[in-house]
Amino acid sequence: MQNHHNIMDLRRAAVRALPRPIFDYLDGGAEDEIVLRRATSAYDDIELLPQALVDLSASNHQTQIFGRTIPFPLMLAPTGLTRLFHKDAEVAVAEAANKAGLPYCLSTLGTTTMEDFARMTTAPRLFQIYIFKDRGLTEEFISRAQEGGYDGLVLTVDTLVAGKRERDLVNGLSLPPRLNARTFLQFAAKPRWSLPALFGRKFDFVNVAHRVATMSDKQVPLHVYVAGQFDNSITWKDVEWLAARWKGPLAVKGILRAEDARQASECGADTVMISNHGGRQLETAVAPIDQIASVADAVRGRVKIICDGGIRRGSHIAKALALGADACSIGRPYLYGLAGGGAQGVSRALDIMREEYERTMALLGAATPRDLKPSMLKRIGPRAFS
Ligand code: FNR
Repeated sequence: MQNHHNIMDLRRAAVRALPRPIFDYLDGGAEDEIVLRRATSAYDDIELLPQALVDLSASNHQTQIFGRTIPFPLMLAPTGLTRLFHKDAEVAVAEAANKAGLPYCLSTLGTTTMEDFARMTTAPRLFQIYIFKDRGLTEEFISRAQEGGYDGLVLTVDTLVAGKRERDLVNGLSLPPRLNARTFLQFAAKPRWSLPALFGRKFDFVNVAHRVATMSDKQVPLHVYVAGQFDNSITWKDVEWLAARWKGPLAVKGILRAEDARQASECGADTVMISNHGGRQLETAVAPIDQIASVADAVRGRVKIICDGGIRRGSHIAKALALGADACSIGRPYLYGLAGGGAQGVSRALDIMREEYERTMALLGAATPRDLKPSMLKRIGPRAFS
């Protein structure tokens, strides 16, 4: 994978490897995808103002999140249905995360059991929770995470109903893939993916399949499945409830407002994840990078702040940290790598992010994340940080 020099090269590798409906599920966003494009372009509206002649001989990019020290401020975000993108699924991603020493978060809708995931991860391991109507599942997740030595739980709060992902609607995405004349041609064009996938590969949500009907049983579109299973009555009381039961760091993922970050902290969360779900949920939601400064004003020092959405360059991590984030997380970048090259592809994505981040830090005159400050950034155009 060494001839892939940036994340967009890996995206092209994913285009080549995956049948169109599967690539679109990975790559797509809500409605007109304005929120998706904006998440990345918002980083381009921030220029860097480097500091000259800083001693970089003792550069150290380590940082702490979820009570663990990691080599640089990046984690792998939870992504459901990982097996759709490569037969080695979470096993391949965990191998690369272990090698890099970076935290990897298993999704509730992942395709590896919490127990197998715990066995295969040596780097910090996290579990992302969706609260299902079947509340017993949540209690079960807590005890399975406790037994599996998970370093933290991540409660996602921006998916109470599914976003309208029009690429999936056009493609009629269901699991296993439903074949009509058009999708048959799309799958036939990628035999290396399609043959093993259509003959026996299981796509089930293995961590919930024993309690709820899975998509494979019903062959329903993804958004219909999600809308039917999640509990949309959850409130801050449920965060308190979770914080009281889970003995370890708790993150709330999907926060965009300062007052929600404050509320998360008051309800017992140790970490807030500023995120719009990678532009897959609320169309035209604000870009996560634009919310860091106000969230940091409200809660910095009390909770850790992680930002995700649209991060495609190492310089994006430096910008997020300069505004007040403690770390960033990425979803699609490592999935592109996974689709294009399994564990090696994921490693390539992580190496690219790390090399770019370290080079940016050096050129910016920052030897450690603590040296980054808002005065190193200059906003282009009329929009203010908030
Ligand atoms: C996601 N994301 C996500 N988030 C979550 O909390 N639970 C999940 O199951 C999923 N599933 C999922 C699948 C796929 C294919 C993608 C691309 C994303 C959102 C994810 O955790 C993260 O917030 C975004 O991916 C970050 O944006 P980028 O890095 O993809 O731009």
